[in-house]
Amino acid sequence: MSFWQKLPKPFFVMAPMADVTDAAFRALIASRAAPDVFWTEFVSADGLYHTREIARMPDNENPLMRDLLKSSAERPIVAQIFSNKPEMIAYATRVVADLGFDGVDLNMGCPDRAIERQGSGAAMLKSPEVARAVIRAAKGASSLPVTVKTRVGYNRESLDEWLPVLLEEAPAAITLHLRTRKELSLVPAQWELMKRAVALRDSLNPDVLLIGNGDVTSVEQGKRLVDETGCDGVMIGRGMFGNPWVFEGLTRTPRSDLRSEFSRSDLGVREHGLSEKLEALVELAHNFEKLLPPKNFSILKKHIKAFATGFDGAADLRARLMLADSATELEGIVAEYVDGA
Ligand SMILES: Cc1cc2nc3c(=O)[nH]c(=O)nc-3n(C[C@H](O)[C@H](O)[C@H](O)COP(=O)(O)O)c2cc1C
Repeated sequence: MSFWQKLPKPFFVMAPMADVTDAAFRALIASRAAPDVFWTEFVSADGLYHTREIARMPDNENPLMRDLLKSSAERPIVAQIFSNKPEMIAYATRVVADLGFDGVDLNMGCPDRAIERQGSGAAMLKSPEVARAVIRAAKGASSLPVTVKTRVGYNRESLDEWLPVLLEEAPAAITLHLRTRKELSLVPAQWELMKRAVALRDSLNPDVLLIGNGDVTSVEQGKRLVDETGCDGVMIGRGMFGNPWVFEGLTRTPRSDLRSEFSRSDLGVREHGLSEKLEALVELAHNFEKLLPPKNFSILKKHIKAFATGFDGAADLRARLMLADSATELEGIVAEYVDGA
């Protein structure tokens, strides 16, 4: 039995997000309000193979291995990988298993053109046989539970054709980003489709967990959507921006003992003021510097935008924070602002 079967319901998970859910941000989330499952950003399985086996790059210098850094505070944690080549997926799954991850997730929804050109990400929606082959490869490569994250169709919604393909391969869970590839993130997520997905799942493979994703910004909203649709869990992505407390309201014990059943009590959710937000941003910058050198500090810009917003003087503070190129400098700018406020 994998950890997936032991999660409370409904469960709430972190979305994989490139250049966002890195070790620095995950550490911040773990310290404020942990989700039921952590997720890495996506990692190229082909890239892992080539850098490690062909180029023989040492792991401590390999940017892809840096994307797989994690700490024991982030459990259970799933690593997301992508490739359209079963042998590469098998290789990357073994790497992820050796690193001590709790699960492996296959990306079948990314609309990035460079990734689709390789036949990976959302291109999988157009190649069901390839999708089947990579799921089988991942399942055969280790004992880790395998999950899939995908969309509801490519150019048009095609749940009735696509979901059965995935369900037949019996991953532990399927995350449905409730938009098509064509819609990118430009239209509201179509949560009404989840009811049909649940009906398909119930009739074809009731063991597979269904996770809904798209536009959820609070646990309360997610619980309502679960009540309406019958899915098992909710994945939150952009709702984490500037809000490392988004999973507040979920507490579970014990955190680190994955063999035990999780139990959970609901805690109240409270407002977090400006000083707490700026404190979190400073902590993130320090995490970033400590855990991820020599990653470019400019990656923090999207977090600066999200944390320093919605108060008098925010634009001016943001402009100054954007120029910081070290955590100490960023902390100094925040301290100056707080003293002057
Ligand atoms: C900056 C950014 C990076 C993303 N990176 C990934 C990724 O690496 N893998 C993936 O499956 N989805 C990725 N996504 C999609 C999210 O996981 C999620 O499906 C999408 O943002 C919708 O959920 P939300 O409305 O809760 O944000 C990314 C989204 C954003 C905004």
